[in-house]
Order: sequence, then C-alpha cells, then structure tokens
Amino acid sequence: MPILQADFDQIRKLVLERSGIVLDSSKIAMVEQKMGPIAKDNGVSDTSRLAQDILKNPSGSLATKLIEEIATPETGFFRDNRAFKALKEEVIPRIIEKRGVERTLNIWSGGCSTGQEPYSIVMMLQENFPQLKGWTIRFIATDISAKVLERARSGIYTQLEMNRGLPAPLLLKYFQKQGLQWQVKPAIRSLIEFREFNLVNNWPPLPKMDIIFLRNVLVYFQPETKRTVLGKVAETLRPDGFLFMGMAEIPMTRDNKFEKLDVERSGCFVLRQ
Ligand SMILES: C[S@@+](CC[C@H](N)C(=O)[O-])C[C@H]1O[C@@H](n2cnc3c(N)ncnc32)[C@H](O)[C@@H]1O
Repeated sequence: MPILQADFDQIRKLVLERSGIVLDSSKIAMVEQKMGPIAKDNGVSDTSRLAQDILKNPSGSLATKLIEEIATPETGFFRDNRAFKALKEEVIPRIIEKRGVERTLNIWSGGCSTGQEPYSIVMMLQENFPQLKGWTIRFIATDISAKVLERARSGIYTQLEMNRGLPAPLLLKYFQKQGLQWQVKPAIRSLIEFREFNLVNNWPPLPKMDIIFLRNVLVYFQPETKRTVLGKVAETLRPDGFLFMGMAEIPMTRDNKFEKLDVERSGCFVLRQ
C-alpha cells in the first residue's frame, strides 16, 4: 500500500527536524521510491507500514536509513574546476605565506558524501605543494550519513565514478585496482579523518579551520537553518580562513559576515575584516 498523504506530511517534518533537509509536498513519489528498498531490506510488508514504523520511532534506525537515502550524495572528483584552480593558485599559496612559521593547516570538508571532494583536495596538495612536507596538516571530512562515510573511508570507486573528473595520471598515481573498481591508496586515505556529523545538531568541538569546503549541502536547507549553520561556520573559520561553497551558493549570515574572495567565480569567500 502506498503511503498516506498525512503520514508523508509527518515524515517531511521528521526529515526537516533531524537533517534540515526540506521536502516539499511534490516529493511524495520520490520518498515512496526511496522507502521501497528500505521496507524490503527490513522485512516490512509495504511502504505505508514502513511510514508508520518510522513515525513511531522518529530517532530510530529506520528513520536514519530514510534520511540517508533522501540526502542527495551527488558528488565527483574535482567537482567544479574553478574552485580547485582558486585553491591551487590563490588560497594555498596565501596560506603558505601567512603560516610559514606556524606550519599548520586545518581543512574541513562538510557534507563530504562518498569522499571524492576531500580526496581531490589531498591529491591537489600532494601534486602541487611539496613545500607542505613537514607541516602539521589536519583534514576532517564529515557527513550526516554513515552510509556514504563508510564508502568514503573505503576509498573504493567504480570506473564510472573515476571517469567523472579524475585526470588519468592521478588515477595511476593515487589508486590501486580492486577487482573491477579502484581504491585510494592507504597512504592517502590515512590523511583524512572521516566523521559522522549532523550540521543541524549541536556541533562537536572542531579545531579552527584554515579552509572549509561546504559545497552543495546547504542548498537543501531553509534560509533560517542556512543562516544558523553559516554563523557557526564563521566561528569555526580562522579570521583569515577561506570558505568554499557551491558555485550557485552565497553564504548569507545574519550580519553579513562573508565576502567574496577577490578571485572571480571561485565559489570562495572570506570573513569580512
Ligand atoms: C550533494 S552532496 C555534496 C557533496 C560534496 N560536498 C560536493 O559538493 O560534491 C550533499 C551531502 O550533504 C550531506 N548532508 C545533508 N544534510 C546534512 C546535514 N544535516 N549534516 C551533514 N551533512 C548533510 C548529504 O548526506 C550529502 O552527502
């Protein structure tokens, strides 16, 4: 039996409260489609019954599984080249200049999905900045979904995923064949701490960051939720740090804390001084 409109409305509320993700009323078919396999895997007779089970225990594992399916994991290696160009040509050189004595670099990829974004950043650093050898580099990558994080930690990708944005020389240098798939070499995997972290819950302590990637995550949130998250992002960023957002995103905070980096179309922002 399909889910009832009233149950769907309750589920929308639950998803919003637990993840910040907004589902408008037109998304009933999409949610129903995501629920089918969850019902099957968990021995629940149909999606209508699953909806009721989820609503009976809103913080339970069935609700978590549904949120993991709804949270869009769309990503790719070196997604949006202009951001990586700005990172390589402007951001990292500026940080190297400023932190030459301290020699520390903290990077956070929030909403990292299956890991292509943080691995792309690490490969870019390895390829272009040998002078970072000897620096203390901390790289944290987080997501709400334990499911995508498991894949990110494994660093295993299909040929199709590899074809999306990964230059061939990097494939040969940083990956090893794993059956029909490819796996990021352990030395690169070990450089990233993958952690579960829901941006709309209380934030765990994080080190002050030099660079934050928060791309294509807040697009699913309400304006008020975006502003709250971005306020916390501003506090987490070092005063001279850099925030990367998706190309169509603007970091709107309550007191207009961010301004564009002086590099056109980089998706990069800095704190207003
Ligand atoms: C479209 S992907 C973006 C991946 C990557 N940043 C990129 O731009 O390629 C969005 C990711 O945000 C995560 N996400 C959604 N809501 C979240 C929340 N409340 N807290 C943390 N991550 C969340 C999803 O699980 C998903 O992996």
